[in-house]
Amino acid sequence: MTGNPNLQVPDEDELRTMSREERAHLGMALDGVELAEYGERYVPGSPADKHAERHVAMWFLLAALFGLIFILVFIFWPAEYEPAYSDRQWIYALYTPLIGLTLGATILLFGLGVVSLAKKIMPHEVAVQQRHVGMSDEVDRQTLAAQVLDTGDKAGIKRRGMLMGSLLAAGGALGVAALVPVLGGLIKNPWAERADSPLWVTPWAPAPDGTKVRMVQIDGTPVKPADMTAGSMMTVFPGVPGGAKASDAAVMLFRLRSDSVVRIRDGQQGFQFGDFYAFSKICTHVGCPVSLYEQQTGRVLCPCHQSQFNVYEGAFPVFGPATRPLPQLPIELDSEGYFVATKDFIEAVGPGFWENGKFPAWYSEPKEASG
Ligand code: FES
Repeated sequence: MTGNPNLQVPDEDELRTMSREERAHLGMALDGVELAEYGERYVPGSPADKHAERHVAMWFLLAALFGLIFILVFIFWPAEYEPAYSDRQWIYALYTPLIGLTLGATILLFGLGVVSLAKKIMPHEVAVQQRHVGMSDEVDRQTLAAQVLDTGDKAGIKRRGMLMGSLLAAGGALGVAALVPVLGGLIKNPWAERADSPLWVTPWAPAPDGTKVRMVQIDGTPVKPADMTAGSMMTVFPGVPGGAKASDAAVMLFRLRSDSVVRIRDGQQGFQFGDFYAFSKICTHVGCPVSLYEQQTGRVLCPCHQSQFNVYEGAFPVFGPATRPLPQLPIELDSEGYFVATKDFIEAVGPGFWENGKFPAWYSEPKEASG
């Protein structure tokens, strides 16, 4: 649909014989666009023109640099899980902020380059156009493309080698940066650490010297049996630096009534201490914190998609989209009477993943307990 019904619309043969500039002008006329002002920003080749080009190229080169840093960090940063007590934990903790910051900086700098290109290099123009509705005709689309390319020609993009190079570098880095997260899973081997691979290890794992990890409240207070009344539930964390922030570590500690009948899952006999049972707080659907405990029925509810798990039934899901029970943490008391984890979970915490339950041949102790 054209904006100027009085104009003679050329047929396809005539369009083919027209130059790009003629088609650009035709496009404006068809759209009812009038140029009120038009002109180069600077005299081509003048010092001001070169300064503007360097300014724009600087943004694109910075975008390319940050894109490259993002790719290198994504591939080479030692992002494997480090326990909270490890002195290398900060390296692990920096990984996510670094890839976020570098990718964010790449996009931001690329955007600044585009804005700067429009303000400093593209010809200055003020145009007035009447509104129209609906999709554009073929002729409008062709003439618009010609206009865009013609503007690029007039801005001298082709002759500005530095600008073209920096724009291609930034665009390339941004494109590769967008692909890297998709391809990353094919580059990294999540099982490189074998039995210590991050999906299977949480801060509840005993320290290398065998020290067992205490259960603490959010303020760091260690937990002992007398802190809980029968029928109550308490959220606890591993008592190690950063334990309360670890995404896979939050645990619900239940003190069930002593007359409760509880189903113990195969392979998890002795995981409880008396009437105390500890289950992961991380929903096995997509990882929200399971929080709402109904004491009478023994059900805990995940607020995200309403999965319910029954503590009396070994924390098996009884409603909602979750399909796996909440992993149980084996617990006991230490010499001072505080709760500790006897060892780490024996199954993966949180949402399912492809290899969950299908373990590599080298792994001799399957972590998935049978139901
Ligand atoms: S994350 Fe818990 S039900 Fe979806």
